[in-house]
Amino acid sequence: MDDLSPLQRDRLDYRPVLPDCLAKETHLFHFACDYRVKGERAPHELLPGPVLGLDDRAADGPYRASQSRGADANAAAPHTADIERRFPLTSHAPVCRLVAVGGGTSPGSDLASKERKERARCRSRARLGLVFSGGPAPGGNNVAWGMLDCLERWAAEADADDDRDDDDDAEPVKLVGFLGGPDGLLKRRWKHVDAREMNRRKNQGGFDLLGSGRTRLNTEAHFDAVRDSCVELELDGLVVCGGDDSNTNAAFLAEYLAADPHCRTAVVGVPKTIDDDLKGGGIGISFGFDSASGVYAEIVGNLCSDARSAGKYWHFIRVMGRNASHLTLECALRCQPNVALIGEEVAAKGITLNAVVDDIASLVEARARQGLRHGVVLVPEGLLAFTPDVAKLMDELSGVHPGSSGADTMTRLSLDARKTAASLPDDIFAELTQTRDPHGNPRLSAVDTEKLLARMVKSKVESAAVTRREESRVAAEFSRDADDGARPERWKDADALVVGVSRSGKTPLASYLAARGMKVANLPLVPRHGELMCPSQVHDVDPRRVFGLTINPEELSSIRANRLRSIGVDAKTDEEYSSLRAVRRELAMAKALYAKHPGWTTIDVTHRAIEEIAAGVVSAMKNAGVLPGAYDRDERENAVDAKFSPVFHFCGYEGRSGLPSDFDATYAYTLGYAAATLAAGGANGVIAAVTNPEASSPRDWRVAGVPLCRLMRSESRDGRERLVIKKALVDLDGGAFAAFASRRDGWRMADRYVCPGPVQFASGARWVEKLPAVLRLDAFGGMRGRCEVTGKDEREDVEVGDGRDVWAA
Ligand code: FBP
Repeated sequence: MDDLSPLQRDRLDYRPVLPDCLAKETHLFHFACDYRVKGERAPHELLPGPVLGLDDRAADGPYRASQSRGADANAAAPHTADIERRFPLTSHAPVCRLVAVGGGTSPGSDLASKERKERARCRSRARLGLVFSGGPAPGGNNVAWGMLDCLERWAAEADADDDRDDDDDAEPVKLVGFLGGPDGLLKRRWKHVDAREMNRRKNQGGFDLLGSGRTRLNTEAHFDAVRDSCVELELDGLVVCGGDDSNTNAAFLAEYLAADPHCRTAVVGVPKTIDDDLKGGGIGISFGFDSASGVYAEIVGNLCSDARSAGKYWHFIRVMGRNASHLTLECALRCQPNVALIGEEVAAKGITLNAVVDDIASLVEARARQGLRHGVVLVPEGLLAFTPDVAKLMDELSGVHPGSSGADTMTRLSLDARKTAASLPDDIFAELTQTRDPHGNPRLSAVDTEKLLARMVKSKVESAAVTRREESRVAAEFSRDADDGARPERWKDADALVVGVSRSGKTPLASYLAARGMKVANLPLVPRHGELMCPSQVHDVDPRRVFGLTINPEELSSIRANRLRSIGVDAKTDEEYSSLRAVRRELAMAKALYAKHPGWTTIDVTHRAIEEIAAGVVSAMKNAGVLPGAYDRDERENAVDAKFSPVFHFCGYEGRSGLPSDFDATYAYTLGYAAATLAAGGANGVIAAVTNPEASSPRDWRVAGVPLCRLMRSESRDGRERLVIKKALVDLDGGAFAAFASRRDGWRMADRYVCPGPVQFASGARWVEKLPAVLRLDAFGGMRGRCEVTGKDEREDVEVGDGRDVWAA
């Protein structure tokens, strides 16, 4: 074992706790009715047991309750005619529950000891097969370990009985592992998995025990080949560890084998996928999700810390999950990045790719205005397919021949799709037009979404800065040209005209507004022959754009006197300019002029800073609906050129084969144990499930076999209606999403990053602290005052460590 690290060796000693229902002396199945009818069954097939009625209690508990609040994709539905037609032998199977046989009142306790012995003997001879299907997920080894332990225990129980048949001496325990995924079943590539091999694989990551693959078992020829393997190996059960697609195929396989009187193999699924999109309908969670999100959350947390420390990078992190955004949501809840996009929400609200880009770009600018040039954005792997504009473009591109030139492709698209295409960087559009996946669709998954987003944000931020600079240059030039009453013929083009007596602050105000992109002319009100001169062009200007300045006479008199002194003129020699009497008279005339123009806005500038006066002008124009469009954004009032330096990351494959967390190690072991029990008992066409994984101890887990048919739905795939297990997407009515949605606004400007650190193995933490956040929040509701995930209070003010205390300008 010198190829194991100290931690790996340490993990070999971790001992998962079995739920009481599996750990007790032995257990039985209980079904509402005959489970299935098969030509020939081995004597150890399903116990009839006491009939408990339709045993949906297996799927109750808080998890179930929370799922019913929202969209439980796989909630049990009445069988449709389609399902009954397609699955005549397995569609009526009820949920079955694994229960311990204990004292006198527990189910099965009334079985005669002879009968129990007979059953134990049969189980001790069970031969089971195991296949990994699809992407790896931490915990696969423990499924095998759980199965093996279960088989060994039965063998040991049979050994303890004296009345064994002679042929029992042969090999009481058999676990056959198929190599390279479903291909191994087709090509009869398998190996015997024994305790010696398991010894170095307990609680270790990876699927390298057997390897895995994505071959779909979905044709009659496939099913025949699988049947032949099962018959040849005399398998009582075949356990398929896979996601929604693999378990859909398992359902069809189960039906196929059920119809064959010469095959006694029961097909049992195990929910596996880091994406966690196989759940609901009694399945609480898929194994692998907790460990993968732990690996990703460590990386995301570290990058959050880096962002705040260096203060100059925007980390764009794509998180695995081809379809569903569960992993992104979990990482967001654990790490609190500035932005986390949830694909399901984007689709539900019809948010376009451009709107997503606009939102991030405006956040980049808003943070930059506060001196924060860093940030963290989480992007789910499947985001693009959720945006309606890109989805439409993909749809239309599927109908265009991949060899067509870019220009030719464009002409075949609708106006909307063309607009979307034009907003994409050229190389990405070219990639989408040139290549196709095996189903003939553009390969959206080949696009590095985090890079695409960051490129689009960068170009938006930069072009906004260029536009702003250009607008400011034009405005400054205009205001210079139209200063001090010059070029009245241009006033009609001005955004604003500022009028006022000499030294009331017109030019500084005009220059300040011009620097922020507003074209401002100014007109000095000069007394002549007892009245103030006002050129006729003033009437060309919309009165809502004219601002008359007033000021306290004492202050103005003192400003004018200072001005005279600064150019070496004795104020006394120019009484008509600076004396209080003269100033009062001029201001009274100005007031009278303003009164004649009730549409003008009068602004008192006495003792007010230029920013304050400018803000008054902007707000009056905004209220009157005449603020220039380009100026009508808060950021223009304090515009900065946001320097935007994105860095890219992909949280992907490293999470699929990491060491399983305590949760996954225990969970996968339990599922393996349960799957072996179900398969050896002939429960054909079910998936092993823990229906309350959120329980405060694995001892309390309830274990069931949920009929795969109950999870089937009709769905359009590749242009055809098919019966499939529906992918469980993020439930927008669920507790986890609600918790996220209620907190995320507080993470945008302030850095409330949390750094979870590495997955803690066998730590002293309470079991509930080891559960994935989404599991807890979906089960128990997410709307709490405090953040259950981090234990931190959410407050809006600047606090130590929120980024602004260090980087705020
Ligand atoms: P499963 O659904 O088979 O568990 O695989 C999911 C997944 O890990 C996705 O998150 C990821 O997008 C995909 O596999 C990658 O697949 P591949 O191994 O074909 O690159």
